[in-house]
Amino acid sequence: MWDVVFNRWLVFAFALHSRSEAELAQRPLHPCDPNDRGVIVDLFWVIMKPYYDDGNGIVIYHGDCREILPRLPKVDLVLTDPPYGIGKAEWDNEYPAWFTNLAFSISNAVGIMPGLWSLPSCIRSMNEKYKWVLCGYNKNGMTHGAIGFNNWIPCVVGGTIKNGGQDAMSFSIGRETKLNHPSPKPLPFMIWLVNRLSDKDMVVLDPFMGSGTTLRAAKDLHRKAIGIEIEEKYCEIAAKRMRQEVLSL
Ligand SMILES: C[S@@+](CC[C@H](N)C(=O)[O-])C[C@H]1O[C@@H](n2cnc3c(N)ncnc32)[C@H](O)[C@@H]1O
Repeated sequence: MWDVVFNRWLVFAFALHSRSEAELAQRPLHPCDPNDRGVIVDLFWVIMKPYYDDGNGIVIYHGDCREILPRLPKVDLVLTDPPYGIGKAEWDNEYPAWFTNLAFSISNAVGIMPGLWSLPSCIRSMNEKYKWVLCGYNKNGMTHGAIGFNNWIPCVVGGTIKNGGQDAMSFSIGRETKLNHPSPKPLPFMIWLVNRLSDKDMVVLDPFMGSGTTLRAAKDLHRKAIGIEIEEKYCEIAAKRMRQEVLSL
């Protein structure tokens, strides 16, 4: 049976590679393969069509990160804000402690914002890869969580990280456009994190993308970025944000 499968695969791969240069040029480039001529990458594109692709390294997938993430090539940084497990929305029943291993399977550098309630669980899940906590302090607003009101956003960092050391920054919430998502992260905080944890042209992955704040920060800082989101309505919000011009930071 396997020889039949292999033969079919070869025919399929050959057909893909027999396409003309014009056809290949039409196809969006994969952010992790600038030459984008490999058979594996071809198959990847046939099997998983992105929800949004700006043709410049910003890609969004609509679906469950448990299914999509294992099919992606390695990235330079996973930076994400998973459900906190505090019942803020129907998807927010449980903090996904399983996610840490999945994140390290695709990147050596990982930053996770677990909220204050799930902070111990997140740190424990990193085991010996845990490095330190970066923090955002909201000067003019508070959020309500499982342990009451607070204005701190922790980001647990693990693996091989570009810049060392724990640190904090403060931000104020301005009159940003309402995003129609229950828990968007503040853009200034995400810009600070992306800048600290990655370099220009690196690929940043956010598998719980929500309204796309990580991708927006990555785009403004000239990184490539991949977002995965299970709710189509949030994919649309994120895609709309990606269509806006790059800010000069
Ligand atoms: C805390 S929110 C992220 C908010 C985001 N940082 C922002 O700025 O908008 C978590 C997101 O993860 C999504 N989500 C939950 N489970 C998921 C899964 N298994 N795969 C992909 N997305 C998921 C939810 O729909 C939600 O939008």
